[in-house]
Amino acid sequence: MDSMDNRELLERRHKVLGTHSPLFYEQPLHLVRGEGVWLWDADGKRYLDVYNNVAHVGHCHPRVVEALAAQASTLNTHTRYLHENIVNYAERLTAKFDDSLSMAMLVCTGSEANEQALRMARQHTGKQGIIVSACAYHGNTEAVSELGTAFMPEAATSKRVKAVPVPDSYHGVAGVAQDDLADAYANSVKGAIDAFEEEGIGFAGMLVCPLFANEGLVTLPPDYLRKAVGHVHAAGGLFIADEVQAGFGRSGKHWWGHQFENVLPDIVTLGKPMGNGHPMAAVIARADLVEAFGEWGMYFNTFGGNPVSCAVGMAVLDVLEQEQLLDNAVQVGAFVAGGLRALQQRHDIIGDVRDKGLFFAVELVEDHGRRAPATAAAGRLINAMCQRGVLISRIGPHDNVLKLRPPMPFSKANAEQLLDTLDTCLAQL
Ligand SMILES: Cc1ncc(COP(=O)(O)O)c(C=O)c1O
Repeated sequence: MDSMDNRELLERRHKVLGTHSPLFYEQPLHLVRGEGVWLWDADGKRYLDVYNNVAHVGHCHPRVVEALAAQASTLNTHTRYLHENIVNYAERLTAKFDDSLSMAMLVCTGSEANEQALRMARQHTGKQGIIVSACAYHGNTEAVSELGTAFMPEAATSKRVKAVPVPDSYHGVAGVAQDDLADAYANSVKGAIDAFEEEGIGFAGMLVCPLFANEGLVTLPPDYLRKAVGHVHAAGGLFIADEVQAGFGRSGKHWWGHQFENVLPDIVTLGKPMGNGHPMAAVIARADLVEAFGEWGMYFNTFGGNPVSCAVGMAVLDVLEQEQLLDNAVQVGAFVAGGLRALQQRHDIIGDVRDKGLFFAVELVEDHGRRAPATAAAGRLINAMCQRGVLISRIGPHDNVLKLRPPMPFSKANAEQLLDTLDTCLAQL
């Protein structure tokens, strides 16, 4: 919508938030209401949300809203008092992980969770070096900004962070056969570990999203992550899985992204979908790490784990289970993936389609030989989709990978609307 009201709101926003506060789409959306997979703008136009993973069980899910309101009108304090909600929630959440990941620290944002994971890894090892991927984003605190190789300036100069190449089967490494890719990429992890030790910084751990979501949801060479984590553990470092995007059943088959790769993290960080929009995040870790850290330095968080947040988190788990949303992600996810692959047959610009449950990446390329990024076309496409009432976005090192990640109650009918609209917009590129 490009109305006078919106232009005025944008101007006021620029004055008070600055001109660099990012907005989606060429014509920013002014959204006023949400329900399930739908969003409405100020003109009453309805949009199919194929992007917002935070509204995980659907926008304004009544059960979540009710749980929030009920607890907010009874008591809200913090974790320095005994309360059933935090214990019940932490028990229920940790039960969804391997037995070794038995303790939780509740915080408010993914950045905070990663910040705390870094502190724990550095405290545990007495060393500083952290390995990340070459197109990473893990949040915006000072230490976490150093991990943000995708666009954070601190990452370019940090001595205590090293980036390894994105383990991307589609693009691969020049001169390396597909069968040798896992070793080639894992060896770069070993190389970074050795370099940290030689430089006297020492190696503390590797922190990656197990689905490499911000990197473009790349297809990992089989066994890459297991091999890389093998190097990490052999060097005494910790493996931190950032499940802020990958977690809470997004991939359908598993609750957590790392379960796809048959690896066991020492620490897992959670966020975005955890509170369906209420600011909730967590560090899930081995008990010995949590206890040793606590002995070293007290950790307290004013808002994290408060009774209201825990009531919300519990309601999100209830809905995921009762509405069988992981099964839905498997079934509808397979339908969407099939539809995207059918579009790939008809639209040359689609180089690769990748999917994990209700998480999809569609890589747009100039040609199928060099696979050069079709960045400008990706920009045009997401704006055209928005005009036609379907919200998607794009990611990857060249911003040429369509990112589709709808709320979990996404239905087959929603999928048909997505695929039809995408087909139309691709044809008009
Ligand atoms: C993988 C990943 N980790 C961490 C974060 C940071 O989370 P938050 O914005 O809640 O601090 C993000 C946010 O986009 C993310 O994508």
